[in-house]
Amino acid sequence: MKKDKWSSETGFILAAAGSAVGLGNIWKFPYIAGQNGGAVFIIMYFILLLLLGVPVLLSEMAIGRKTGKNPIDACRALHRKCGFIGGFGILGAFVILSYYCIIGGWIIKYLLMYMTGGVKDNSAALFERFTTGFSPVIYGIIFTLLCTLIVIKGISGGIEKISRLFMPALFVMMIVLIIKSLSLKGGGEGVKFFLLPDFTAIESAGDFLNILVSAMGQVFFSLSLGMGTLITYGAYLDRKTSLKKAAFYISLIDFVIAVLAGLMVLPAVFAYDIVPQAGSGMVFIAMPQVFAGLTGGNLFGIIFFLLVLFAAVTSAISLFEVLISFLIERFKLKRLASSVICSAAVTAVSVPVALSFGSLSNIRIMGMDLFEFMNFLSDKLLMPLGALGISVLCGYLWGTEEVSEEAGLKKSWDKKLYRSIIRYAAPVMIAVIFITSFIGL
Ligand code: PFF
Repeated sequence: MKKDKWSSETGFILAAAGSAVGLGNIWKFPYIAGQNGGAVFIIMYFILLLLLGVPVLLSEMAIGRKTGKNPIDACRALHRKCGFIGGFGILGAFVILSYYCIIGGWIIKYLLMYMTGGVKDNSAALFERFTTGFSPVIYGIIFTLLCTLIVIKGISGGIEKISRLFMPALFVMMIVLIIKSLSLKGGGEGVKFFLLPDFTAIESAGDFLNILVSAMGQVFFSLSLGMGTLITYGAYLDRKTSLKKAAFYISLIDFVIAVLAGLMVLPAVFAYDIVPQAGSGMVFIAMPQVFAGLTGGNLFGIIFFLLVLFAAVTSAISLFEVLISFLIERFKLKRLASSVICSAAVTAVSVPVALSFGSLSNIRIMGMDLFEFMNFLSDKLLMPLGALGISVLCGYLWGTEEVSEEAGLKKSWDKKLYRSIIRYAAPVMIAVIFITSFIGL
């Protein structure tokens, strides 16, 4: 069977950027940047993105394109004992999907609420009532079905087409909301919180290390590294595309959208004297408070939740494709069958995850509820292990010369830089993230 391919380089870049741009950019980056020194954090993040993120991104795409296979078979083709490295990715993709689809469902619920009259209630109480009930299961299934419909259509006809539509639309909607947000009285405080360099956040070496570790963790999550998505997407690339150029654009888009997200949410939140927070609280509690006080708030609510939905869908389909490509190649299944199996399997696990806020909140694993546990498994365990495996595979086993050739690194200093990062800097930094997330600083 002939493998489906991206129809153009731009299509591939938009799909990979779509995987990168997700909830991490919208609900995590603005807050941790503001909390950790504003511009100081943003500059540090940018440097790490280029020095750590881009080389790992390049490595994953090179592994994918060289072998043309799913993550497990791709890693095994390069070194017969390394299939397990791709295995971290496949398992990780599955684990992330189990909670990403639930959050996707919440987004659909809120979008529908704004389309049918808006949120008048106390937003914190409403969110609590909704997430502890049964309906998130239904909305989670709707989100999963939506993603399944896209991936069933394949690479060029499904994932690429949707990314070409969703990514520019997301950008335009963001600009509309930024203009509105910046025009609100008192919004300047939000810009200050986000952008003004705050050196008091880094008074000791411990503070610095803390910020460094959270910036590194954010680089990995935000660029979708270590989870096999870029190996999988890379496997559908033709030989003409320059991986170096693609890696640069993907990281740049991811960075720009993260900064724009900060300019979208923080001025609005500060203008209404709402305490900013990270995670679901920012999207589902703080932003609805803003829309409640705004003339035309419902319309802005629709734009906002549509934008967040687009960001979540383009990330989730990349995770689905990791699983689907594995089933297609390993078990010689048709795309339709493997898409259906994947969405059924994801649903089976995401139902208890959805209920872990309410009826199943008493189930605890290592003191965490199911939702927290799945987050822990993916972010703290599988993602660093996957990324570490990729660095070791490319740095020591497959060989940096081969990767450089595949990735189109021609200049000798490019190759040297890549070699030193992937052999030394990346493994050390990943090990630091890994250790500190377990023992703390
Ligand atoms: N990069 C996505 C975000 O920022 O929300 C999340 C993600 C998608 C992580 C795909 C990992 C992945 F493989």
